Amino acid sequence: MIRQLIPLIALASAAVGQAHAADLTISCGAVGAELQLCKEGVAAWEEKTGHSVDVISTPNSSTERLSLYQQILSANSGDIDVMQIDVVWPGLLANHLLDLSETLGEDVAEGHFPAIVENNTVDGRLVAMPWFTDAGVLYYREDLLEEYGHEPPETWQELTEIAQEIQAAEREAGNDGMWGYVFQGRAYEGLTTNALEWVASHDGGTIVDEDGQVTINNERAVAALDLAATWIDDITPEGVLNYTEEEARGLFQSGNAVFMRNWPYAWSLAQSEDSDVRDKVGVVKLPHGPEGKSAATLGGWNLAVSKYSENRELAADLVAFLTGKAEQKRRAIEGSYNPTLEALYEDEEVLTAVPFFGTLYDTFANAVARPSAVTGESYGRVSNAFFDTSHSVLSGDTSAADALAQLESQLRRLKRRWK
Ligand code: GLC
Repeated sequence: MIRQLIPLIALASAAVGQAHAADLTISCGAVGAELQLCKEGVAAWEEKTGHSVDVISTPNSSTERLSLYQQILSANSGDIDVMQIDVVWPGLLANHLLDLSETLGEDVAEGHFPAIVENNTVDGRLVAMPWFTDAGVLYYREDLLEEYGHEPPETWQELTEIAQEIQAAEREAGNDGMWGYVFQGRAYEGLTTNALEWVASHDGGTIVDEDGQVTINNERAVAALDLAATWIDDITPEGVLNYTEEEARGLFQSGNAVFMRNWPYAWSLAQSEDSDVRDKVGVVKLPHGPEGKSAATLGGWNLAVSKYSENRELAADLVAFLTGKAEQKRRAIEGSYNPTLEALYEDEEVLTAVPFFGTLYDTFANAVARPSAVTGESYGRVSNAFFDTSHSVLSGDTSAADALAQLESQLRRLKRRWK
């Protein structure tokens, strides 16, 4: 971790170092077209207000981004005024962030999904404004499923079988690089979101329940992880053990996978002019296990203002602009980023650009939260333990039964911190 951090900090301070002339600095994600969209939004605000802003990019992995922010904030540094923060971080970072309802007014979050506003409210303080929401969805090759006579799978078992069949037939036909299923399997936050979907859709709970009880060591969770382990090197390349969102998208978008688990942002890129799978892709909810129902992990990003900013009010104004309706609509249409403003799910232009914002509305509205609210400041440790465990099961180093028994004791020891 430390080894990774040093270049990250050097990178951030180099970027910030050049930034002194600007009035503000914002850090944005750079997954897919994210950085470009952020820069365009910022440019519109600059144009409107006459102020200048530096945009710096952050690592793609949510886990690495968190380390970077924790370093910067724990040094009480105001180098970054506005920060893009993950939906699972408010409890971890609240002490370093401004209460935006004080600066922007009590009703600033009106019209946004109440669950996200509640998530971003820590001890009565609104520490971040909702920017976009996320939920895991299943991408599939419409053309291939049609050719081989299949409907999109309802269960993980069906997904496995269809993936095996099409992968084998396509390879037989000379398409050597074809794989059945890709997802996010690196040991990082993205694996937590994937593995939670496998477990929850087997009716195996959410690792830690709403009362803070550790529930992960159960037979359904074991079955879910055991099944996922069988995919590796069968329908999933071994390389997935090091995949984040973008590696999975790269393989799928070049036409080499039947199915992919990813977030909605991958849609507009898969549909772009230089995509090999343009007009060949469908999006449905994720499959479920024998006893459960489909589960999509709730993701998403928010904009927060650092308490150490020297330009707090201006920074808050930028946040209000970027999270406002016009920007959310533009980002939905151009980048298939899910709005957090409920009304935009009835906007015809948005629904034409991203039809599944309508058809999968229930998936977005009922997405399963990671246990970040209940574990608060310990969430980082809980998630790390869960993704490490899931990674060792996928790698074949240990059985799911043994791994989850061990994880349970590890989480029980941590539990003293949140109970
Ligand atoms: C997406 C989600 C975020 C999640 C991350 C994991 O960016 O929006 O909530 O933590 O993926 O890779």
